[in-house]
Amino acid sequence: ETIEKGGFEHFMLKEIYEQPKAIEDSLRGRMNASQGWIKLGGLNEYINKIDNADRFLITACGTSWHSGLIAEYMIEDLARVPVEVEYASEFRYRNPIITEKDVVIAISQSGETADTLAAIELAKERRALIYGICNVIGSSIARASHAGSYTHAGPEIGVASTKAFSTQVSLITLIALQLAQVKGTMPTSKLREILYELENIPSKIEETLTLDAQIKEIAAIYKDASNFLYLGRGYNFPVALEGALKLKEISYIHAEGYPAAEMKHGPIALIDENMPVVFLATNRSAYEKIVSNVQEVKARKGKIIAVVHKGDTQIRALADHIIEVPETEEILSPLITIVPLQLLAYHIAIMRGCNVDQPRNLAKSVTVE
Ligand code: G6P
Repeated sequence: ETIEKGGFEHFMLKEIYEQPKAIEDSLRGRMNASQGWIKLGGLNEYINKIDNADRFLITACGTSWHSGLIAEYMIEDLARVPVEVEYASEFRYRNPIITEKDVVIAISQSGETADTLAAIELAKERRALIYGICNVIGSSIARASHAGSYTHAGPEIGVASTKAFSTQVSLITLIALQLAQVKGTMPTSKLREILYELENIPSKIEETLTLDAQIKEIAAIYKDASNFLYLGRGYNFPVALEGALKLKEISYIHAEGYPAAEMKHGPIALIDENMPVVFLATNRSAYEKIVSNVQEVKARKGKIIAVVHKGDTQIRALADHIIEVPETEEILSPLITIVPLQLLAYHIAIMRGCNVDQPRNLAKSVTVE
């Protein structure tokens, strides 16, 4: 086991650090920025049906559901097709409308989650095309899908998902871009810019990982908190959900992720000097809106930990702690902003003496209902 951990103390930390390579593996052979192409075998095979789909239904559980939410934002934003994201456990039991003109995307690291498998079986009965995004090769969901792509993250051992999430997001980016290309909803120059930036993501994650020591210091300050709030807008909203999930999974601290503007409809009542609030504030669009959300928290004496772009000045002036990450295309920001949140959860959990690789009551793959 020591050898398998490759010098890291825990699988989770190893897998966090493996993300640059895992993303490279997930993109290898599937795109070329200078030539401006994307080639996803699974997508090409059914491209006519996929291009003519009325809408996409995305179904998943847990972290994979958060990737699904990012996929919704991306596919609607870039390819202009309606997308709905469903918890597999709700989808399968709520008598949903599914037709043969729908494409159902099932996202699952293990490919064995019982609810996700049942959801796609239902969609298959209703003659939808099933596109699987799995990490484990030959898994049940991969086999039950008509088409699909593997994330190629390599084995993920830590129960809290890290590199599986980031490879799902990078693969989803390729799917959204290829759809946009087929549909002609995006200028080629913009497509190339995003592909170039996607190629740069692994080195930007490497750079983000150098913030580890700083994040550990922040973890030491807040390790005894009883609650945490995570706030983000746009592409950073699903990251807020995923950051909160990481913390609760492994440190057992209650944490909630919320769209930053929705805070005033509830969570704001919880804010006092004991409430750490993590802001994902790298958005270029809606930046001023985030600044005012930060001000709202500060006015109530909440403790502000903000993930911002390098060189940010406005939020720096308001926050208690600043985590400066490299700038990227807004749609790719989840791939960067999730990294400090994974590290924060990891260090807090270690400081609280928790078993980060095998947290209590959780399973890596939930194969029963
Ligand atoms: C479990 C795991 C999570 C995972 C979820 C969905 O709850 O602990 O890390 O996100 O299942 O798993 P899947 O394999 O379908 O992505």
